[in-house]
Amino acid sequence: MLNPAAAMRRIGTESAFEVLARAKALEAQGRSIVNLGIGQPDFQTPAHIVEAAVKALRDGHHGYTPANGIPDLREAVAADLERRLGVEVDPDLVLVVPGGKVTMFFAVLMFGEPGAEILYPNPGFPIYESIIAFSGATAVPIPLREDNGFAVSAEDVLARITPATRLIIFNSPANPTGSVTAREEVAKLAAGLARHPHVAVLSDEIYSQMLYDGREHASLLHYPEIRERVILLDGWSKTYAMTGWRLGYGVWPKQLIEGAMRLAINCHSCVNAPAQWAGIAALTGPQEPVHEMVAAFAARRRVVIEELNATAGLSCAAPGGAFYAFPNITKTGVPAKELEVKLLEEAGVATIAGTSFGRYGEGYLRLSYANSVDNIREAMARIRAWLAERRAA
Ligand SMILES: Cc1ncc(COP(=O)(O)O)c(C=O)c1O
Repeated sequence: MLNPAAAMRRIGTESAFEVLARAKALEAQGRSIVNLGIGQPDFQTPAHIVEAAVKALRDGHHGYTPANGIPDLREAVAADLERRLGVEVDPDLVLVVPGGKVTMFFAVLMFGEPGAEILYPNPGFPIYESIIAFSGATAVPIPLREDNGFAVSAEDVLARITPATRLIIFNSPANPTGSVTAREEVAKLAAGLARHPHVAVLSDEIYSQMLYDGREHASLLHYPEIRERVILLDGWSKTYAMTGWRLGYGVWPKQLIEGAMRLAINCHSCVNAPAQWAGIAALTGPQEPVHEMVAAFAARRRVVIEELNATAGLSCAAPGGAFYAFPNITKTGVPAKELEVKLLEEAGVATIAGTSFGRYGEGYLRLSYANSVDNIREAMARIRAWLAERRAA
């Protein structure tokens, strides 16, 4: 018998990958599956970005890069943040990593240990709770409620801070709800956090450019009173349809960057060079592909919300960002996980149970609308037919 560390019994997973594997297995058996499960843009990476990676390989960029990323890339990240958010960022505080997740992993490893408390949104990205548990820290959920549009309430967060709190995870626009926390609430949170100097914040802003109805992104990096304690997580996966490239970045406080770099050197040395050259092209090249993709998501969002609210048993308010809908399913009488399994196996539609995002996700289902309007309509027709048949039975 092998004897893995106890932490291995505490680590969770992201069930979207399991649903994806099951959907692929059913497709391989000849079943037709519409996939509203996995959260990735259904667009190709824009051609000029692909070309930059190909050119980098042809130009001989085959070796290690600096562990924190190619200087031109870190400068491009800083310039992009200044352009989009109006914040000044020192490129030496940017750590380029293989995907958005890595900044999250490093931040939690840096603060998590037995006795420490880490606050995280629930329902929220499942990896938050998983890695907090893995680290040995206590995962303290911040319940997000439908009657508050699943937005973060500054009061709820601040009320949960204790002397043992080390880190708070904030995510807006959010996975799995698509919720956007309003700027006034973000400001309230920042003002409240100023009174708790022992607490760091990981602000997961990976969906910062996927906003609808004229919303503007409210970044936690904006607040000088907490700036020295904010770790910003962002990356290329969602914005530039680059999920498989594995490219992301963190902007770290001065007091933490050295530790974060050591984690990178211990873990992955550096991100593969061609992906980094692609990242430069993404940030410094034309942004129209991003705007076109977001416009397509906005149109699909209208369709999915309209279809959900036209389905007996389901209801869903329009989410402000990302590409997820999080309908209330309680009137179907089917628990979330059972509905996920039955919709996949019997209706041929991949979705994710709200409970995959934490216990406060019961009563909800996550639908990713990163799929064509035709597929969204087909998926919704199948869901409606399945629910009608169940009611009739
Ligand atoms: C909220 C959130 N943060 C981070 C990530 C991780 O992104 P990446 O694929 O770049 O690791 C995701 C991906 O789904 C996400 O939804």
